Amino acid sequence: MLKEKKIGVLGLGYVGLPLAVGLCSSYKTIGFDISLDRVSQLLKGIDKTLEVKETKLRHCLKDKLRITNNFKDLKICNIFIATVPTPITEKRQPDLGPLKDVCKIISKLLKKKDIVVFESTVYPGATEEICAPILEKNKKNLKSGKDFFLGYSPERVNPGDRIHSIDKIDKVVSGQNRKVEKILFEIYSKLTTGKIFLAKNIKVAEASKVIENSQRDINIAFINEVAKICNKLHISIYDVLNASSTKWNFLKFQPGLVGGHCIGVDPYYLAHKSTKLKINPKVILSGRETNDEMPTFIAKIIDEKLKRKSRVLFLGMTFKEDVPDLRNSKSFEVISFLKKKKHTIKLHDPYVKSNNLEIVNLKKIKVRSFDALVLAVPHMYYLKQINFIKNLLKPNGIFFDIKGKVDLKRCKTLNYWSL
Ligand SMILES: NC(=O)c1ccc[n+]([C@@H]2O[C@H](COP(=O)([O-])OP(=O)(O)OC[C@H]3O[C@@H](n4cnc5c(N)ncnc54)[C@H](O)[C@@H]3O)[C@@H](O)[C@H]2O)c1
Repeated sequence: MLKEKKIGVLGLGYVGLPLAVGLCSSYKTIGFDISLDRVSQLLKGIDKTLEVKETKLRHCLKDKLRITNNFKDLKICNIFIATVPTPITEKRQPDLGPLKDVCKIISKLLKKKDIVVFESTVYPGATEEICAPILEKNKKNLKSGKDFFLGYSPERVNPGDRIHSIDKIDKVVSGQNRKVEKILFEIYSKLTTGKIFLAKNIKVAEASKVIENSQRDINIAFINEVAKICNKLHISIYDVLNASSTKWNFLKFQPGLVGGHCIGVDPYYLAHKSTKLKINPKVILSGRETNDEMPTFIAKIIDEKLKRKSRVLFLGMTFKEDVPDLRNSKSFEVISFLKKKKHTIKLHDPYVKSNNLEIVNLKKIKVRSFDALVLAVPHMYYLKQINFIKNLLKPNGIFFDIKGKVDLKRCKTLNYWSL
């Protein structure tokens, strides 16, 4: 089965590009993306997600990795790995559009013995119930599990995290039968020095991923609820967490804004499946609700503390620290609330170069020109120059350090608030 493995990676975003780059040193690899913009940037060595360095990408593109916008170039592949987005709709239901689309593309390319692996986060059952029937609508009438085979390997990379990178983390892998498992075990062993865990079956692997992120969401929601209680008690949640963390089995979650397209989205996939199974996903959805309320909770506090219409410098627009990803960032909800209250908001983020957002140049701002600073996303860029930043505050101005990241010993004179 599959003497020479030729791998096609479909979807070259945060997950797909590092995967294609990682695989190309061991296998002939072709990366495909439907976005012409993305492909033309990558061909110039530019990865706007900042996950792959230009030198590395250029090196791969020299001979090992081919990147294309034309799906027919994937014809020579016998293993297809789909890493397309799995967002939610406005009604917070799984939007399986990109997943279905990529299956349609792969179905046109399928040959006997090919393997199709999904890395996108889905609910348990999606690969076999949703993807397989679309893949089977191919000209050659090939059947899943008989003529071609399925696999699922959830992606766990954490953008911006240089420690838990794709080449080091443990990987969960599953396949439709033992032979497929063996092949995928071999492939993923080349990608990571971490362990490869063979899940019992595809559904188990799918469930393992979606519960990882749902569990994280629920735990953060609990701490966010505690943060609200602490706020009323006039004590700091961080002081409480420091004390509780001295217990050996206390889980160290932090309060904050939960945005992005994983933690704030994946629980809806699990909730969807749960509802289909007639199990009310109370815990999952209440965690989501609590986390979704945090932007308004924080914005209200900022507004109340400011008392009058103020000039506010808002620091951090991306959904989390040290990444350029703006998708589903909760900063926008805080900003829009404050704008409605007629505060003048100036925006800054070292990772954002969008023309649609007016980003101020920090170096051009005069000292003592803001009534408030809101450090919403504590990028390392800010923490490294916190003394300079705090000088942008007027005397008696307020420093809102949402995630409690500023070392107060260095900022003794600050009028300070954190969750
Ligand atoms: N980003 C993360 O941190 C992360 C971590 C773990 C898992 N995941 C999961 O991995 C999947 C991909 O996430 P991402 O962050 O890489 O998304 P992304 O938006 O960064 O990248 C997806 C890419 O797929 C392309 N695409 C869309 N439809 C396509 C199609 N039909 N054919 C080919 N290309 C197509 C898009 O143009 C885009 O470049 C999602 O299911 C996500 O939940 C993401």
